[in-house]
Amino acid sequence: MVLTVDQRRWLVGVAGVLPLVYIVQAIVRVQTGEWDLLGPEPGKAITHFTGTWGFNFLIATLAITPLSRHLGQKWLVPHRRMLGLYAAFYVSLHALAYLAFLLGWQWGELGREVVERPYLMVGALSWLLLLPLVVTSTKSWQRRLKRRWKRLHQLIYVIVALAAVHYLLQIRASWFEPVAYTLIAAFLLALRLWFFAKKKRARTS
Ligand code: HEM
Repeated sequence: MVLTVDQRRWLVGVAGVLPLVYIVQAIVRVQTGEWDLLGPEPGKAITHFTGTWGFNFLIATLAITPLSRHLGQKWLVPHRRMLGLYAAFYVSLHALAYLAFLLGWQWGELGREVVERPYLMVGALSWLLLLPLVVTSTKSWQRRLKRRWKRLHQLIYVIVALAAVHYLLQIRASWFEPVAYTLIAAFLLALRLWFFAKKKRARTS
């Protein structure tokens, strides 16, 4: 059975809310004392969960072009926008979870926190850069910005690189996940660099 673009859009839309449904039901069950899935520090667990899903969606968004270009999976391209929007959504929840559960809305503490934990600044920069991409992700903005749209959306490379640095700077005991995410991000970025270099060579020769 071959699904239509609209059916696939619907599926991607549903798949994207599943992590949210999972974390919301976990929070509800922890509140009712039924389940202890979030461990001794639920606020931290929620921040980690949303950050990880933000990164998963970023990686998925970045993987669409190489999968389409090098492996012929062109059917994925119409779903890139939704994956990118989910990345921005989960990263925003992640920042919100940090402000609510770890900072406790103590804005006065933010300056000291940023100095003590430089990865916060890197994460915040990555999130801020995502915002113009969310705003201009529509077809009408694409038409309005023309060639500049593509340039602007190349910011995704910087965003993913900053997200990897944000994760690497937090390495304490367990290095496997941050290093694995960084290697995947680096591979996807290297594929882009290789493709751009190849295109440039073809144009000049
Ligand atoms: C594109 C942007 C971002 C991405 C992809 C991202 C991703 C991540 C990931 C994957 C983790 C580690 C999760 C784990 O260990 O299981 C993490 C941790 C964290 N992030 Fe982010 N993040 C981003 C932006 C931000 C922002 C804007 C803030 C706050 C203003 C933030 C605050 C934190 C904090 C507090 C932690 C937990 C550190 C700890 O364990 O003490 N992040 N992030």
